[in-house]
Amino acid sequence: FTLNLLLILVAYLIGSISFAVVVSKCMNLPSPHSYGSGNPGATNVLRTGNKKAAVLTLIGDALKGFLAVIVARAILGDQSLTATLGSWVLCGVVVAVFLGHVFPLFHGFKGGKGVATACGILFGINWILGAATLGTWIIVAMFMRYSSLAALAAAVFGPIYFVFLFGFQPMSIALLVVCLLLIWRHRSNIKNLMNGAESRIGSKKKSKS
Ligand code: G3P
Repeated sequence: FTLNLLLILVAYLIGSISFAVVVSKCMNLPSPHSYGSGNPGATNVLRTGNKKAAVLTLIGDALKGFLAVIVARAILGDQSLTATLGSWVLCGVVVAVFLGHVFPLFHGFKGGKGVATACGILFGINWILGAATLGTWIIVAMFMRYSSLAALAAAVFGPIYFVFLFGFQPMSIALLVVCLLLIWRHRSNIKNLMNGAESRIGSKKKSKS
């Protein structure tokens, strides 16, 4: 039981490392809280015009979600998909690493919106699930050029793909919690999308929201 709680706690702490903040510091860029949407995420870091920093942020934030799931699965010792999807500890790890990103202990609880981390989590659970959800993000992003709209579409379809692939499992609830939180974190984006004020991918302008 203690090991299980420790796993969940460590997942939260790993999630709490904001790569937007860390990468920006290492590359001498301004704090992501100070420009654009103010969001510590890859989309906002891209508004500095520094693509390398945005890609590193994306990879770091996705990897922490991926690694939390993969490492927890290895430590729990049961690699079978059915056992994995029914494990309350793994469900806890999934929600904890996501909560860490959104409310990070190391950055005054001012975290991001969770898109890259959620993507890493989905790949950690199953690569087909991750690829289908990422594919949804890419298609919407390519046609609409809004990172937030692509994330919202992926958040709606992710749990649907999960249930389609694996049926109802305890993990469906954990993923639903993650996706609902992700959508809630995008409430200012949703407002901007409805007002036509949302900035497109690649545009450096965005009023702080
Ligand atoms: O990954 C977050 C993205 O969906 C929206 O970011 O900075 O445009 O609010 P941002």
